[in-house]
Amino acid sequence: MCGTQQVQLKAILDEAGKRLKEASAKSDVEDIRIKVLGKKGSLTAILRSMGSLPPEERKELGRMANEARAEIEAMISARAEEMSRLEQSARLAGETIDVTEPGVDMRLGSRHPITLTIDEISGIFMGMGFGIAEGPEVETVFNNFDALNAAPNHPSRDLTDTFYITKDTLLRTQTSPVQVRTLMGQAPPIKVISPGRCFRADTPDATHSPMFHQVEGLFVDEGVTMADLKGTLDVFAKRMFGEGVTTKFRPHFFPFTEPSAEMDMSCFKCGGKGCRVCKGSGWIEILGCGMVHPNVLRVGGIDTERYTGFAFGMGVERIAMLKHGIDDIRLFYENDMRFIEQFK
Ligand code: DAH
Repeated sequence: MCGTQQVQLKAILDEAGKRLKEASAKSDVEDIRIKVLGKKGSLTAILRSMGSLPPEERKELGRMANEARAEIEAMISARAEEMSRLEQSARLAGETIDVTEPGVDMRLGSRHPITLTIDEISGIFMGMGFGIAEGPEVETVFNNFDALNAAPNHPSRDLTDTFYITKDTLLRTQTSPVQVRTLMGQAPPIKVISPGRCFRADTPDATHSPMFHQVEGLFVDEGVTMADLKGTLDVFAKRMFGEGVTTKFRPHFFPFTEPSAEMDMSCFKCGGKGCRVCKGSGWIEILGCGMVHPNVLRVGGIDTERYTGFAFGMGVERIAMLKHGIDDIRLFYENDMRFIEQFK
């Protein structure tokens, strides 16, 4: 009986040694451990069967079995360690990178010149305490025209000038409806600008596009006067086009302001002598502005005895074109990289 088990022990030991040698992964080593030393392992079975042996034999076989177990355990852990090392070096070899190989060329994009111009304009006004207000591109006819004091027969309301969605909604023709939204949504003091996209049913040419951008401005508080308007917009012109420019205000008409004006600035290219940029006049028209009409303030429920305000609106494309010497508005929307890439 004992003899057979000794032979079995030897066989288990040899078999374990052989299979460990053949193992090619750490998981193989673990399989062998379970098959030999696990609950249902071959060595475990021998240890279990010892109970039926006479005490003398049991002692002798027990010693041998324990020795065999110690030997197998040592072989397993040595082989497992070896496998870990092999697997790690294989992994490291697989992960080797050639640091001398040229990298993948990542093309870094840049912001669109219109975005850059809006950011520059916004930065100047934010520096003077203006916040940013937003409004939707699909507007109500009420906000775009009625609330802005536009007469029922105002030509800009015409179907040929405006993209209507329904009888009561349209693609806003100006950023001025954001004035209405702001006046209705908050109480003075109000000091905001609102950049955004506008739409008019224009045929595209060098200076017209059915989609374009404006920056609107609105300042309402106690005691706001035309002098504040002039000072603010003069600072803007100087920051945007250079400290050397001067501004002048020409009377004009807008339904939502009274009085209304257009601001011209002295030509930043020729200093006012007259050149191609200013078409020989020495002056460049830059924006529309005026004191907010009481009818508009009243739409926002604002006490017109207590509060006054000024507003302005400028075309972003026009400013970008002047500043960068761009002679065709369509260039902004054609996505020609040779054009776009020049603005970084
Ligand atoms: N909304 C005008 C336009 O599209 C621009 C404008 C002029 C806005 C005068 C104003 C303003 O706020 O006061 O032509």
